[in-house]
Formats: sequence, structure tokens, C-alpha cells
Amino acid sequence: MVFIAPSLLACNFLKLEEECKMLNESEADWFHLDVMDGRFVPNISFGMSIIQQIRTATKKPCDVHLMIEEPEKYTEAFRKAGADSLSVHIEVCRHLHRNIQQIKSLGMKAGVAVNPHSPVDLLSDILQDIDIVLLMSVNPGFGGQEFIPHTYQKIRSLKKMIHERGLKTLISIDGGVTLENAAGILHAGADVLVAGSTVFQSPDPKATIKQLKYTD
Ligand code: DX5
Ligand code: ZN
Repeated sequence: MVFIAPSLLACNFLKLEEECKMLNESEADWFHLDVMDGRFVPNISFGMSIIQQIRTATKKPCDVHLMIEEPEKYTEAFRKAGADSLSVHIEVCRHLHRNIQQIKSLGMKAGVAVNPHSPVDLLSDILQDIDIVLLMSVNPGFGGQEFIPHTYQKIRSLKKMIHERGLKTLISIDGGVTLENAAGILHAGADVLVAGSTVFQSPDPKATIKQLKYTD
């Protein structure tokens, strides 16, 4: 089963309601919502008030990707805003285990996002506690960047680790996912494809979502 999580970072915010409606009618599985603080990443996007509004426009799970420092300060606020899964970056969490427990105790799925330079081996002693590994295939901060090919190797190693331990952790790939590379990413072992520009810049986003979902 492949999950498609369109990233609303690339949508037309002047038509947010229509964009949500389009996703509701599409085969998209999750809404991927990118929160940036201008500190951890060199860009600022949106926060809980926008997520809260999006929450009222969909019943699909809202997958929130926090590209912020000190995410533990905002875990509860994002839950209140309607996040179903919350991913924090491994690079900013000094107490990752505690952060994950906090996320789960609030009833959300816990995700750990990993930058292109961070080895997947860093997850070795926490993997059993994580629901989703959000492997960054670009440097976070911007949509529309090119997929970093070394990600394939990281997907394969991570998949091996998950498989060997009999875990159910999902591997989600974020950044530079296109109709051309989707099959390769899935063959390497990914479960979820996050796609911003590929979906929202497409002349027919619903058809593109379907193509991504049934690609092989
Ligand atoms: C990057 C974000 C991504 C981004 C993906 O910092 O985490 O979710 O929106 O955009 P595309 O698919 O355009 O690379
Ligand atoms: Zn993201």
C-alpha cells in the first residue's frame, strides 16, 4: 500500500478551500503540512492557525512536519490545531525519546524527520518507538528542489533495519518527488510519497496524485 501525502506548501493559498476540496476528492491519503520557523530552516511558512482552518476542511489525516527548533514547546498546540501525526527533526531534539513519548501521549503518530546529511543509523535505538521516519530527500526549507540521489541508499538501509526487527515503521520521502522518480523511490522501500510541486503545479492534480499512487 502506497500513501500519497501532497504538501500544501505548494498550493495556492488564495484558494485554500478549493485546494482542500480537490485533495478530498482525490486519492491523496494524508495532507502534508510544512511548518518552518526561519531558525532551523532559512524560510518561514505557516503555523497552527492555518492548520486549524485546514483541519475543518478535511477528514483526511493531517501529517504535520515541524521544521522548527524546540518543537517540544508546541506539541500540544499542534495537537489542538488538529495534527494526526507530528514529525520532529532529529537534528534539533536533544531528548528525542522524550519528545516522541510526548507526541504519542497526546494521541498522535510520532514521526522523526532526518536531514540529507544525518545517517539513518542514528535511528537505531529509537526506531521501535517511531511510527514514521520522514527521510528528507532535499535540504528542508523550500519546495521545488531536486531529489538527492543518495536518498535511495538511505531508504534501502532503513528498510532493512525495519524489516529485520519486524517493525511497522513507515518510510516517508519528502522533497523532489516526481512522476519520473516515484517508482524508484517505492522500489527502494518507501511507503509514503510527499509531493508538493509535482501535485500542485500539475495541470491535473487529481490525475497526478492517482499516477503517483499507482506508479510502479
Ligand atoms: C521541504 C518540505 C517539503 C516540500 C516538498 O522543506 O518539507 O514537504 O514541500 O516540496 P516538493 O515536493 O516541491 O519538493
Ligand atoms: Zn515536509
